Amino acid sequence: MAELSTRHLMGIKQLTKEDIDLIFNTADNFKEVINRPIKKVPSLRDITIANLFFENSTRTKLSFELAEKRLSADVINFSASASSLSKGETLIDTVNNILAMKVDMVVMRHPNPGAPIFLSKHINANIINAGDGAHEHPTQALLDAYSIREKLGQVAGKKVVIVGDILHSRVALSNIFCLQKLGAKVMVCGPPTLIPKYIETLGVEVSYQLDRALEWADIAMMLRIQLERQGKQNEVKYFPSLREYHNLYGLTLERLERLNSKLVVMHPGPINRGVEISSELADSAYSIILNQVENGVAIRMAALYLLASSEKIED
Ligand code: CP
Repeated sequence: MAELSTRHLMGIKQLTKEDIDLIFNTADNFKEVINRPIKKVPSLRDITIANLFFENSTRTKLSFELAEKRLSADVINFSASASSLSKGETLIDTVNNILAMKVDMVVMRHPNPGAPIFLSKHINANIINAGDGAHEHPTQALLDAYSIREKLGQVAGKKVVIVGDILHSRVALSNIFCLQKLGAKVMVCGPPTLIPKYIETLGVEVSYQLDRALEWADIAMMLRIQLERQGKQNEVKYFPSLREYHNLYGLTLERLERLNSKLVVMHPGPINRGVEISSELADSAYSIILNQVENGVAIRMAALYLLASSEKIED
C-alpha cells in the first residue's frame, strides 16, 4: 500500500506532491463512501483519536469528528474553554493526562504557531495540525485544492487569487504551499497593511487592486478579516473601517458581473457576510463554499486513514 512520507500532518510545507496526490486519491474513495446510504467503514476500529481544540472552531472540529466517526474510530473531545486550563493547568499537564488515556492520534488546534510540533516531541501519537496561530492549516488547504480539482478538472495551470487578511492567515500560507506544489499560480490581494513584506519570497504575485486581480484569476479565495488577531476584539486597526474595506476589497455579484467574470468563488469560513463577500454572491452559483465543507470530511478521512497506516516510530 502507498504511504505518506510523514507520520504527522504538521503543515503542507512538509508534504511532497506525491503525498498530496495520495491524499486526493484516497479522498476520492471516501467521498464515494460518504455518499452511500451506509456511510461508515471499519478502517479505524480500535484507534482512539483525541480532538484537542485550544481555540474556537466550527467547521474543522465538526468535520474531523464526523470523519473519525465515519471511519469507526473512538473519539474524545477537548475544548480549552471547558477544561482545567482555566484553573491554571499547563499544556504539558493537559497533554500528559490525555496520553495516560492511551490515544493513538491527536488532532490539535492551538493559537500558538508550532504548538503541534511541541506536542510531537512529547507523545508518540500521530498528530494533525488543525490550525496553529497564523502558521498553517493543512487540511483546509488540501480540501481547497481538492475542491478546485473537482470543479475545474485540475489544479495545475490554474490562477488563484487569495484576497484579504493575508498577514494573519494560516489558510493563506498553507494554500500558497499546496497550490504551488500542484502547479497553480498564486496571487495575493488586499490592503498593503495586511500583506506581509516577505510574501514575494514565496513566489506569489501581489496586487493591491481587486479588479485587476480578478481579471487575472480563475479562482478567487476570499478570506475574512481576523479582528481577533489584530488587537482588541472587534477593533479595526489596519484600515479605516469595515465599510471602506468592503468597498475596496469586498467581492459582490455586481462586481463580478461588471467584469464579465466566470470566476469560481471560494471561502474557508467563517464568512463575514457584507465585509469580504456579499451574501448574494456567497449563496450564488459562482460559489463552491459548501462543496469545500463537504469535501473537508473526505479529505480528513483520507488524512486520518493514511496517517494511522503510517509506521509507528518509538521515541
Ligand atoms: N475554516 C476553518 O478553519 O473554520 P473554523 O475556524 O470554523 O474551524
